[in-house]
Amino acid sequence: METLRYNYAHRLLHWLIALMVLGLLAVGALLGNLGFEGLKDLVGLEMTNQLYGYHKTFGIIILALMVLRLVLKRLFRSPAYQPPLSGFERAASLTVHSLFYVALILMPVLGWMGTAAGGFPVQFFDFTLPGLIPENKELSETFFQLHGIVGWVILGLILIHVAAAIYHWRIKRDGVMTRMSLL
Ligand code: HEM
Ligand code: HEM
Repeated sequence: METLRYNYAHRLLHWLIALMVLGLLAVGALLGNLGFEGLKDLVGLEMTNQLYGYHKTFGIIILALMVLRLVLKRLFRSPAYQPPLSGFERAASLTVHSLFYVALILMPVLGWMGTAAGGFPVQFFDFTLPGLIPENKELSETFFQLHGIVGWVILGLILIHVAAAIYHWRIKRDGVMTRMSLL
């Protein structure tokens, strides 16, 4: 029986976003732990500015791609599971997938707001996007604290999600991996 899959655009977006999220978590951890000065001492001013710029730019790209993904999900039905999932698997995957959507839309918004409230430029490639909110250092700190917490939530979701994917792929061998695979 042919395994049902997500449409190609959805599968492509899945892997593009997955790669970008892993990169952003890694670079974000550097920015968050070393701070601007610490990073500058380590890799120099130019590289530090580039890392901040790229982190913001790709974070905003994720925001746009997640919204697009949500629209695609509304327009095209997700394929049915063959064989059907158990009740637990259905509930667990629905929870983890939904939390991914919420977290990956919230995360860039928090980064954007934290940056703007801190009086820093919201960089998108060579452009500076509108900050949208007035400068407020305290608020900026709160936004970045939340940005850090949601970062841990995303990491936790990834660990559960990848463990589940490997379980379906190598142990249960039920075609769930093929639903999202590009090949
Ligand atoms: C690292 C960041 C990742 C994120 C944010 C992510 C997010 C998601 C989301 C939200 C879905 C639900 C489908 C949708 O509505 O779009 C999904 C499905 C899926 N993901 Fe990931 N994913 C990531 C990484 C991975 C990795 C590394 C693997 C494989 C090892 C993987 C394998 C799958 C599979 C097989 C599905 C289909 C599950 C199903 O249809 O129930 N994902 N992913
Ligand atoms: C899905 C998208 C994003 C992910 C996964 C992500 C991830 C992270 C992580 C894990 C940290 C470290 C937090 C900490 O240790 O306190 C961080 C820091 C940071 N992020 Fe993001 N980020 C994203 C989007 C953005 C966006 C869109 C912006 C700005 C427009 C941004 C700006 C920053 C800044 C300035 C820091 C350093 C904060 C500090 O010095 O405390 N991020 N990011």
